[in-house]
Amino acid sequence: MGNNANNPFLNPVPAVPLRMSESTLNLPTIQRGEFPADFLWGCSTASFQIEGANQEDGRGESIWDRFCATPGRIRDGSDGSVACDHYHRWPEDMDLARHLGVNSYRFSIAWPRIFPDGRGAQPNQKGIDFYSRLIDGMLERGLQPWATLYHWDLPQALQYEGGWANRATMDAFVAYTDSVTRRFGDRVKHWITHNEPWCTAFLGHHEGTHAPGVRDFKTSMQVCHHLLVSHGLAVPVVRSNVPNAKVGITLSLHPIVPATDSAADAAAAWRHDGSRNRWFLDPLYGRGYPADVTALLGRNAPEVLEGDFSAMATPTDFLGVNYYFPEVVTDAPGVRPINTRVIERANAERTAFGWEVSPDGMVTLLDRIQRDWNPNAIYITENGSTFDDVVLPDGSVDDIERRRYLVRHLIAAREALARGVALKGYFAWSLLDNFEWAEGYVRRFGLTYVDYATQKRTLKASGHWYARFLHGR
Ligand code: FCB
Repeated sequence: MGNNANNPFLNPVPAVPLRMSESTLNLPTIQRGEFPADFLWGCSTASFQIEGANQEDGRGESIWDRFCATPGRIRDGSDGSVACDHYHRWPEDMDLARHLGVNSYRFSIAWPRIFPDGRGAQPNQKGIDFYSRLIDGMLERGLQPWATLYHWDLPQALQYEGGWANRATMDAFVAYTDSVTRRFGDRVKHWITHNEPWCTAFLGHHEGTHAPGVRDFKTSMQVCHHLLVSHGLAVPVVRSNVPNAKVGITLSLHPIVPATDSAADAAAAWRHDGSRNRWFLDPLYGRGYPADVTALLGRNAPEVLEGDFSAMATPTDFLGVNYYFPEVVTDAPGVRPINTRVIERANAERTAFGWEVSPDGMVTLLDRIQRDWNPNAIYITENGSTFDDVVLPDGSVDDIERRRYLVRHLIAAREALARGVALKGYFAWSLLDNFEWAEGYVRRFGLTYVDYATQKRTLKASGHWYARFLHGR
């Protein structure tokens, strides 16, 4: 199966253990001063997960509004109509970010606030005004704005025309990019085209667990292709509108671990790596799609038109990496589409989501990205964890596990730097508890606890730790 000539899992490089204590209470130490002075420290959010106000000031419907309104799609039956009410409470939230001591803030722009119908001759001025105020608010507080253009809230009007399965959506994305970068490019220099195309393509169009809830593998591959091509088409538009622009894409990437040292599992890991990592990084860095994966896809491989590969390979300034967990893979003949299965490693530490906690996996991943694709700069644009937070009688939230997760991943970041990775910044997911997609409000990822009944924000112990770390030397 596939071409194993380059399969690193057949001759694995032994992992170097991290220098850290494994005891829960005895947290290892790390200081901001151990990182380069110009390292970016931030936190991330996304429009649909925090803004609410989904019918205000002319915002159009998004595919996530529609998805939430479909019974059974969201675990707790909730939706994004109020979320963290960030649309109204953003000054308080930006104050929180400043209090943390971050020097950058990653947010996303809701396309349906700018073009309620997906496209048009003129953008919705009230939507423009909202982000304009928000961006000014960041700059006033010393926060460098990092804008994501697409964090999953496609205008529903475009979904009626096929959404990302339709090439015309790429043109609408480029027009939307043009409109917002013209208006905000004087103040926003850092632009991320897409957030995690894997999720939009496969959770949204193969598994159907994310909006728009389509279940068709061939469609998901075509959607994935259009996302990557639209990224490449948007990059020069950002550059032409934004003086001194820095532009990139954010991918969800995973270190892949063969379940055993058998040759069959090594081959499975390589195939899985092909679909999770190489499928994205190879075309973005000019190598086209990996031939071994294309061969496995057969008739499900995407239709590629002339010019698509060169568009996808448009040079960028940085790669955004969202790192959450490794995937342990076994050979699984007959399991479509690529005969692999992700299994749970016995005795692994896990978050409340079941995601394996592996800071050394982050080092392995970053090291490998640098070696195999050599981006100019890498930013961790998301990293974080969900645990079942408890509000204590005095109102505080002592989230020791999340704090420990954060500390250990910062140690992993330090280790990656020591190994020569061009890591330039770290954004914690997330500033606030928020709407966690199909999980609704059940999963809390925030450094700040949000009481959804009152909208009261309380910095958790992890947030207090991050603030102390950032204010230290
Ligand atoms: C990532 C998403 C982000 C958030 C985290 C937990 O996949 O980009 O919006 O939901 O997971």
